[in-house]
Amino acid sequence: MNKQRKRESWGSKIGVLLAVIGSAVGLGNFLRFPGLAASYGGGAFMIPYFITVLILAVPLGWVEWAMGRYGGSKGLNSMPGIFLAFTKRQGGAWIGLPAVFCSYMIFTYYAIIEAICLIFAYRYLFSMTGWFGVPGTEPMKDFFSALLGTGENGAIFQNRIFSEIFINVVICYTINFYLTYRGISRGIERFCLWAMPALVVCGLFLTFYVMFLGNPTGLEGQSYLNGFRFVWSPIQEGKPFLESFSNPETWVVAAGQVFFSYSLGFGLIMTYASYLKHNDDIALSSLIAVGGNFFCEVIIGGMMVVPVAVMFLGTAAFQSLGSTFSLGFLALPQVFEQMSYGYLFGFSFFFLLFLAAVTSSISMLQPPIVFLEESLEIGRKRSISILWMLTFIGSLFILYFSKGLTALDTFDFWGGSLVAFIMATMQIIVFGWVFGIDKGMELIQHGAKIPIPKFVRWIIKYVMPLYLLIIFGLWMRYNLPERIKGFNESDAVQKSVAFMLFFAFFLIVILIQAIRRWRKHGVITHSGEFHDSSVGFIEGEL
Ligand code: ALA
Repeated sequence: MNKQRKRESWGSKIGVLLAVIGSAVGLGNFLRFPGLAASYGGGAFMIPYFITVLILAVPLGWVEWAMGRYGGSKGLNSMPGIFLAFTKRQGGAWIGLPAVFCSYMIFTYYAIIEAICLIFAYRYLFSMTGWFGVPGTEPMKDFFSALLGTGENGAIFQNRIFSEIFINVVICYTINFYLTYRGISRGIERFCLWAMPALVVCGLFLTFYVMFLGNPTGLEGQSYLNGFRFVWSPIQEGKPFLESFSNPETWVVAAGQVFFSYSLGFGLIMTYASYLKHNDDIALSSLIAVGGNFFCEVIIGGMMVVPVAVMFLGTAAFQSLGSTFSLGFLALPQVFEQMSYGYLFGFSFFFLLFLAAVTSSISMLQPPIVFLEESLEIGRKRSISILWMLTFIGSLFILYFSKGLTALDTFDFWGGSLVAFIMATMQIIVFGWVFGIDKGMELIQHGAKIPIPKFVRWIIKYVMPLYLLIIFGLWMRYNLPERIKGFNESDAVQKSVAFMLFFAFFLIVILIQAIRRWRKHGVITHSGEFHDSSVGFIEGEL
């Protein structure tokens, strides 16, 4: 490791907190959560969700912040580097690699959904000028399908190279990579300082507005109160109390949502936390970040998006929309169309989504960028150029294999959710069992502004691994066979998996290179043990 390297760190405490909340709050809160809550029975989904937040999100948040800060204090910011420092063995570096893979995979499709939000936002904004058609003035399914070319592979490249979605994906890439290029405190932190509060204000405004709409369609069972009851009552009409949440799949889905939405399990929080100073608080900060995401998800997502869909479409219609993300894109434009000043609501909502998505996607670029910088000892410019090329190839692949959004779903599931799940399980095992729960708890408590209850150590050491393993077993029993069937039957799924394997191979080659360099610089000794590399680092802001 280059001992002269200046250690980049956050400019302010509020900045890091907003950046972490910004990473967590995104499409997961406003599209994925309402979509899942709607398909898994509203209130029936909320009980497994709340339990999962308590058991997984809160402690895993502490674990990720603690591991990140520790790795950073040893001069290592990449996920393999942090795991190397934590396990004290060369082999530990391999455990961190899936997180780099996962954040790359999620970014490639996340940037596309981000571009759709941008398209919806400006179409609403300019609707008065007549420059663009407004989403909702033609059947939404057709609009959405034409935008992404979901009818046929390669559809968006057929008539012209620069289709609307292509241009907007390029715009989103430019914004993301520019902010990342500006660096931790100048780019990401400053952007989140204004984008996050703007987002919350906008979301709350919409939530309050919707609350006073009553029953705008006049149809039975479609008032705000009906929508509210649908989300918040575990007892749904015509269903026995226990039946609603005894379906194991609901618990599996709730865990997946917690990883995705709280940005846990794929290295985002850990990489951000690696730029903290050694004595910075993590206990309270992590709790605030989890609470902030929970607030946006449950209050804005649960009290605005789902009730609005009940009010304007009715539960039967929106429960059969199909895809998780479709609630926002397919249903809400119909809602805005029926509202007075709907174009303003449409613009605010999709612009809000776009801001939320950008603060999340810039955090996804961090693990791969830092990994490239640390492994190849290159500067930000070069690491960004390499990653720009790699991610753009991934997005082009998804845009080309657009039929039924198969490539997007495959990247999301195999590259995103599943790897995040495995990664989170390994994190907990490394923290509680390899590093040791006693030392681990001391790490969380170091500099803490709040005391951590004693029972948390038992949750981290025993409850979390057990809970995750049981859920994984359930997933294998109930979901894996269907996934394997899907793989065998679809050419696009097979090609997507081949693409992912190719990228995994690339990461393996880079990590071998990193280990070679760490050995050369004495960070790893001849016997393969980690040697503290923090000596000689200069702590300071960039
Ligand atoms: N946590 C981010 C989201 O919810 C990825 O969208």
